[in-house]
Amino acid sequence: MFNSALSRAAAKAPTGLFQQTSLNAQTRMYMGAAGRYRNSRCGKKALILGLAVAGGAYYYYNRKNEKNRVACEGIEPNIKSPEKALSLMGWTTLTLRETQDMGENAKLFRFNLPKEDQVSGHTTSSFIMTSVVKPGTEKNWWPTYFYRPYTPVSAEGDVGHIDIVVKKYKDGNSSKSIHSLKPGDKLDVMGPLKTFKYQENSYKSIGMIAAGSGITPMFQLLHKILDNSEDKTKVNLLYCNRTEDDILLRKELENMAAKNPERLQITYCLTQPPLNWEQESGRVSLDMVKKHMPEPSSATKIFVCGPEGMVSTLTSCGCWWFFKRKDGILEELGYDGKSVCSL
Ligand SMILES: Cc1cc2nc3c(=O)[nH]c(=O)nc-3n(C[C@H](O)[C@H](O)[C@H](O)COP(=O)(O)OP(=O)(O)OC[C@H]3O[C@@H](n4cnc5c(N)ncnc54)[C@H](O)[C@@H]3O)c2cc1C
Ligand SMILES: NC(=O)c1ccc[n+]([C@@H]2O[C@H](COP(=O)([O-])OP(=O)(O)OC[C@H]3O[C@@H](n4cnc5c(N)ncnc54)[C@H](OP(=O)(O)O)[C@@H]3O)[C@@H](O)[C@H]2O)c1
Repeated sequence: MFNSALSRAAAKAPTGLFQQTSLNAQTRMYMGAAGRYRNSRCGKKALILGLAVAGGAYYYYNRKNEKNRVACEGIEPNIKSPEKALSLMGWTTLTLRETQDMGENAKLFRFNLPKEDQVSGHTTSSFIMTSVVKPGTEKNWWPTYFYRPYTPVSAEGDVGHIDIVVKKYKDGNSSKSIHSLKPGDKLDVMGPLKTFKYQENSYKSIGMIAAGSGITPMFQLLHKILDNSEDKTKVNLLYCNRTEDDILLRKELENMAAKNPERLQITYCLTQPPLNWEQESGRVSLDMVKKHMPEPSSATKIFVCGPEGMVSTLTSCGCWWFFKRKDGILEELGYDGKSVCSL
């Protein structure tokens, strides 16, 4: 599912000259019908009349709605929702404000949005596409870019900034470039690209199985659930890593659990545990899933995210239940295709 979304995004989105051409082409496409009348006076009049009628209807509809809202709720009119910084129609340039180390290989990057009073516009669940120039091609007439998706870990309502956590790989093209950024440096991003829409209280229990940087979409979902006191969903998170140092967002996760002991339970699992480690050890197994995940039922949902091998041991890929295999650990334990979603 992501592959097609990503390739569509990448095809639409390269920066510079190509972006300009592609946007112009799209604009021409949308303006096609109007364009046919461009040179006729009659067409112009019809277009102006049409726009005036549509504008009037929109104004009337909004005023009526606003009046109703004021009458029903007794609230002040004209409360505007904040402007969204990101768009799917082009790249937005963000400026790095600060970073925070997360173990040896990962960092949290906080970027300023273009305006202080904007929100990013990402929703749960969604990710953003980043674009970095391939080193050495910056000065070329046609630079080469690496496009990679990252999942924001800041809350939807955060104003003025967006946070991503990026794990660095030794030969990783984007992760190495992003890790080399210093406060004040720029990063081009586009989005949000939505994966699924979370609705409060749609499940009684949610199970999350994450590994490595696969925690980021879970963290986004945890923000959404736990920041909303009306949402009574209970969450069990099983988070797998190699070493204790590799656990990302640990402090933040533990703060969330401490504030919401009734709603969030976290279990860590390590493949290289320290001596006296009291939580789970080894790779994720059927027994671990049975012990830590909520029981299969129509009111339960399990989300999975991590390295491909781990995901395919647990279930087949994709949120689309009709593509699912039947031989993953989750299916073996009785979770049906609809109650499992791999991100
Ligand atoms: C929807 C989505 C959201 C994502 N969100 C995040 C996020 O929030 N945070 C995050 O850190 N990542 C996230 N990723 C992964 C991210 O997009 C990149 O794939 C990752 O940063 C590696 O990119 P790279 O350019 O550095 O490495 P690449 O240039 O793609 O790979 C080059 C080399 O890096 C090494 N490498 C790359 N990936 C791995 C791996 N998984 N395991 C071992 N070695 C590897 C290998 O040596 C590989 O040959 C997400 C992926 C998806 C699909
Ligand atoms: N779709 C999304 O929204 C999204 C978001 C973020 C990240 N991701 C993906 O998540 C992955 C995270 O990779 P990472 O480098 O952070 O992970 P990692 O550190 O390499 O691995 C994390 C844990 O997973 C275990 N593991 C690896 N392969 C396994 C398998 N086949 N079966 C069971 N357990 C396995 C590892 O065990 P060992 O120690 O034994 O290797 C380790 O304990 C990346 O592929 C990234 O693209 C996706």
